Amino acid sequence: MKVTVDEDRCRGHGVCCALCPEVFDLSDDGYAVVLTPEVPAEFEEAVRTAVRQCPERAITET
Ligand code: F3S
Repeated sequence: MKVTVDEDRCRGHGVCCALCPEVFDLSDDGYAVVLTPEVPAEFEEAVRTAVRQCPERAITET
């Protein structure tokens, strides 16, 4: 699985980082950054949850 965050949609809610800090972090200006675009298998479920729960629908898995 791969994951991306749409910078134009992210508003820094931080749900993704709370759910899966191994994959998502917040940048110094408060927006999500993806630490591991190629998601390790053990974090796939947490990333799927983040995709569903991001209030801005900014996260995409492929
Ligand atoms: Fe941004 Fe959504 Fe995460 S708004 S900080 S990608 S929960």
